[in-house]
Amino acid sequence: DGGTDDDSGARVGDFVHEGLRNLEYRGYDSAGIALVGASSGLTVAKRSGEVANLAVPDVADATLGVGHTRWSTHGPPTDANAHPHTDCDGDVAVVHNGIVENYAALKADLSAHEFTSDTDTEVIPHLIEEELAERSGAGDLLDAVRAVEDRLEGSYAICAVREGADRIVVARRGSPLVLGRGADATFVASDVTAFLEHTRDVTYLEDGDVASLSADGVEVYADGDLVDRETETVTWEADAAEKGGYDHYMRKEIHEQPESLRQTIAGRLDVDRGEVDLDVSFPPGFLADLEEIQIVACGTSNYAGQYAARLFEELSGVRATVDIASEYEFGAGRSPDRTLVVAVTQSGETADTLGAVRRANAAGARTFAVTNTLGSTVTREVDDTAFIRAGPEIGVAATKTFASQVATLAMLAVSIGRERGALAAADVRPVLEGLRDLPGAVQQVLDNENRVREAATEYGDSEAFFFVGRKLGVPVALEGALKLKEISYDHAEGFAAGELKHGPLALVTPDTPVLALLTEGGRADETMNNVTEAQTRGAPAIGCVSAGDEYGTLDVSLPVPDVGVAEPLVANVYLQLFAYHVANDKGRSIDKPRNLAKSVTVE
Ligand code: G6P
Repeated sequence: DGGTDDDSGARVGDFVHEGLRNLEYRGYDSAGIALVGASSGLTVAKRSGEVANLAVPDVADATLGVGHTRWSTHGPPTDANAHPHTDCDGDVAVVHNGIVENYAALKADLSAHEFTSDTDTEVIPHLIEEELAERSGAGDLLDAVRAVEDRLEGSYAICAVREGADRIVVARRGSPLVLGRGADATFVASDVTAFLEHTRDVTYLEDGDVASLSADGVEVYADGDLVDRETETVTWEADAAEKGGYDHYMRKEIHEQPESLRQTIAGRLDVDRGEVDLDVSFPPGFLADLEEIQIVACGTSNYAGQYAARLFEELSGVRATVDIASEYEFGAGRSPDRTLVVAVTQSGETADTLGAVRRANAAGARTFAVTNTLGSTVTREVDDTAFIRAGPEIGVAATKTFASQVATLAMLAVSIGRERGALAAADVRPVLEGLRDLPGAVQQVLDNENRVREAATEYGDSEAFFFVGRKLGVPVALEGALKLKEISYDHAEGFAAGELKHGPLALVTPDTPVLALLTEGGRADETMNNVTEAQTRGAPAIGCVSAGDEYGTLDVSLPVPDVGVAEPLVANVYLQLFAYHVANDKGRSIDKPRNLAKSVTVE
């Protein structure tokens, strides 16, 4: 986020700070601002925590400013790791979104430079410093950024300023960057929400563009040539823009799943060769001798773990158990050196899960984290980590991160199974095809939202809700019930369908709808028998049904595209939408349900 202004220095800092607050939904673990003024030079302020913790630096003559609110990818959220990052002399400052994939190699080339953070970003100001050293004059920031851009691999949006230079230079590859063309100020940000109150005239930069913003105007370069990029007028309101036009983050995040799943699997699947690359390597012989995988997690992550445990047994040929993290002990009779403990945690900060990891480490087991949050505590406590790459999730109720956790764990199961020689390429190909087709299958479910909304309106006022499934359908039934109770405050429970008749059936009445997973990987016909037992007691039945199957007696039938063992995961999107619409009809506080927190850091 950045801005240039001709009038008053105080305004530049305020513009940037206000822009950061508007962008806080994109990341909120640390924030920083750099301001440049003709006589004050370059001033940087940054700190961990929310944008509100950051005071605007007092620079009266600032004409340029850049700022950043961070969602950590390399290095934990500390003051030092917050952006902007500077060079050795402290006269170049850079903010960056995205990932510099070759930062380690670049850092090695910069051995004469002193680094003060753990971030990938910090190589950028140092590279700019080197390029500037080879040139002279204030106007060279543009050339320096262009030269540096040629050396960066990965995805990024960058804004750079320099003491004594009269411009902000920005570059975009893979991460969004949009210019705002105000009457007396020019803006640049990852998202128009940052500056919507100042201007609605925007120019979207394209991949590979480098632009220079100054009081004289904006110049955009592509492949070194000056180019024209169109200016258009945005018509949305700020609140809608931030939530992608949805009323709640939760609904936005449910709808983001095709995109977040695409990121989760990007570059990791080789369907033809039946292989997965999660960029993890275990010590030689470890997987061959592996006896048990113990999954530890809480809440929704625990249900992702339950889904995965079934896949680990099937695909890795290793016994897999799942523990609620707060209950976990290593257990007698196990061999720690033949055990892999997998902690599943969106935030990477859940105290119960960290406690379980510490007990596993103390027992001498190898530990592994599956998380969304780079730099989180869990990543520092385990031997290896796989990131789910779902992007920030704001709604307290986990949605897109559940899908990405299961997809990542499924990939881990395949990679362990293949490396152990438990499975041939042909055995895992259908699983990998299912993962590859997940984003499209989830999109088809999202396109059916109206049918779920109608069911939510028809049955939403019931006394209680029961969710049932078999095998892979069980964790999804549990997750469906959890979602509904979290955000609607209605009584909801999930069961293994076969257990209904062993007790819960006593609760079933015409006022207790049953939602059933009638999908692949769950012996659907038997589950349908259990549903019929509930219907006989008057309960309405809503079923998520594999494409091609038909159960004519269901009150509502929701089709699930054929993606093999990933089908219950796709069906889960119907359950997310059901919970959302029931809660929304009741006017609940969907993104921040009462008594709940996104990340629980006490045991
Ligand atoms: C809290 C959240 C849940 C989440 C659980 C585990 O209870 O409200 O949505 O599933 O923590 O969080 P984690 O970050 O470890 O996945």
